[in-house]
Amino acid sequence: MSAHIVDGKELAGIVRQELKSHVESLIQRGIKPGLAVIIVGDDPASSIYVRNKAKACSDIGIYSEVHRFQKDASQDEILQCIHSLNENAHIHGILVQLPLPKHIDNNRVISAIAITKDVDAFHFYNVGALVTGNSVFSPCTPAGVMVMLQRNNIAIEGRHAVVVGRSNIVGKPMAFLLLEQGATVTICTSKTRNLSQFTSNADILVVATGKPRMITADMVKPDAVVIDVGINRLPDGKLCGDVDFESVKAVAGYITPVPGGVGPMTITMLLSNTILAAERAESAER
Ligand code: GUN
Repeated sequence: MSAHIVDGKELAGIVRQELKSHVESLIQRGIKPGLAVIIVGDDPASSIYVRNKAKACSDIGIYSEVHRFQKDASQDEILQCIHSLNENAHIHGILVQLPLPKHIDNNRVISAIAITKDVDAFHFYNVGALVTGNSVFSPCTPAGVMVMLQRNNIAIEGRHAVVVGRSNIVGKPMAFLLLEQGATVTICTSKTRNLSQFTSNADILVVATGKPRMITADMVKPDAVVIDVGINRLPDGKLCGDVDFESVKAVAGYITPVPGGVGPMTITMLLSNTILAAERAESAER
């Protein structure tokens, strides 16, 4: 039996339609959600992500603005921009596109964002809130994975989830979101010894290592749910995930494709967090 393909593109379309209706009702109440995106330098992948984020906002009625800085911009210039966006009542969410150039201290920049506008949930406060089960915003990629699981009625509680990858953007928050929903969670890395010993015990396997096709069929439990967060460009220009889709789909119960799996859900969750930030700003004013 071949796995059920979890279509992230289709689900993202459904959720964005719901969010669009939500934004329309907010606009009728005089609230127009607003997102500011800061990009430093001219990394082509980051430029595409930022363009996609701005378009996704405009598609559902969210106001957005992009603040571009040269790659040699000073940290102070960026901090100044963040301070003024923190005070701007039209802006409810602030996102600094990563990676930043090496001369800029990521932690210093991210922690300058007002915690109520931190729609990436990268600020230490929001990381702590997530770990203690008190989060307002969840980081977009792991939050998108959770929505994919929930909307496909995939049970989490009591199941063994294995996360391969320990990044601050995906692996670590992913593990805590699954833990919060009652999964038994194991965190591995691409360097874990005898990795397949762990992965082949996973009911839910989430992979975010950046190593093309590193998870092969022999590493996956029959009927497991396999979520591939990786997106890698091969020498022939094609995209592939961290999971060997063709072989693993014959073993897994559910699998996400690349492209068209987790990717489209990430921006969807950014939209959702921006709307949430706007609603919370309005209720804080009342
Ligand atoms: N770079 C890669 N992924 C992300 C993300 O989710 N947010 C930001 N701000 N930068 C990124």
